[in-house]
Amino acid sequence: MKPTIAPYPATRLRRPRRTPALRDLVRETTLSPGDFIWPVFVRDGEGVEEPIPSMPGVLRRSVDKVAEAAVEAHALGIPAICLFPYTDPALKTEDCAEAWNPENLSNRATRAIKAAVPGMAVMTDVALDPYNINGHDGFVVDGEVVNDATVAALVQQALSQAEAGADIIGPSDMMDGRIGALRTALEAAGHSHVCLLSYAAKYASAFYGPFRDAVGASGALKGDKKTYQMDPANSDEALRLIERDLTEGADMVMVKPGMPYLDICRRAKDTFGAPTFAYQVSGEYAMLAGAAQNGWVDGDAVMLESLMAFKRAGCDGVLTYFAPAAARLLNG
Ligand code: PBG
Repeated sequence: MKPTIAPYPATRLRRPRRTPALRDLVRETTLSPGDFIWPVFVRDGEGVEEPIPSMPGVLRRSVDKVAEAAVEAHALGIPAICLFPYTDPALKTEDCAEAWNPENLSNRATRAIKAAVPGMAVMTDVALDPYNINGHDGFVVDGEVVNDATVAALVQQALSQAEAGADIIGPSDMMDGRIGALRTALEAAGHSHVCLLSYAAKYASAFYGPFRDAVGASGALKGDKKTYQMDPANSDEALRLIERDLTEGADMVMVKPGMPYLDICRRAKDTFGAPTFAYQVSGEYAMLAGAAQNGWVDGDAVMLESLMAFKRAGCDGVLTYFAPAAARLLNG
């Protein structure tokens, strides 16, 4: 029911905006470091922190530095880190075997974080693109990204991540049937506690550009991902994907990218009420950080405003490269 609003001057909507105390009282949405999952890029070596030109302020870190960063993030109140490996091109193959190597970068970083700061939740990415010679999330056969053979490989990849200690597994590949296959395999292998955060509504977006630089996939990618990632024109389809993944055993769902898709976040939360996350992706980060670097916007202000918008749109949390900077500001 729509509440009636008394006519002016009985109603003056500016009254509760007059002072900071009044604004605090009527604020509908809150933002805290506990809302963040921090995506981190891992590379080989030791003691390495390497800037990523298209993502000002973001680093590729060697495993030891990732563990150090996890300790700091935990102290800031950030509950989870999401790992993305920058894989040596020499390890990229057509069969993507590095994806389930127990000693791959992602698995080594998971173990290092868990050893350094057991309370930090580790999220890992399930998709073949960091390991695939052609940059695709699945196997390519005769020019097509094949579904079912890819799902079998994703299962192997996820099991190796669970074995390494991942708390949350994030399938970002957009193959059909993978959530059900992963859930069944995790249960059978004794990993019943591992959460699946499905990249359920992942769009074929140009906003992933800087990420592909960061993981070294830009040069490798042949063609585009439109046969598996979603058409940016669709919204009902996102709800069908989310419903399907929840039915197959996803514990949480994600909408990606974030800011251009807040309408999808709101529909998803209102429809299912499931734990809902958005990924403020690399291109969104680059837009805000790049404009701030040029002095065109107030960087701190647009960062917090953009993050609050996800909460307002119904998200329970946000994957954001801003996590440590935003947490620092929020902690005062
Ligand atoms: C690939 C993957 C991508 C991102 C996360 N996992 C890129 C893609 O689909 O090509 C993008 C994240 C970002 O842009 O920040 N499985």
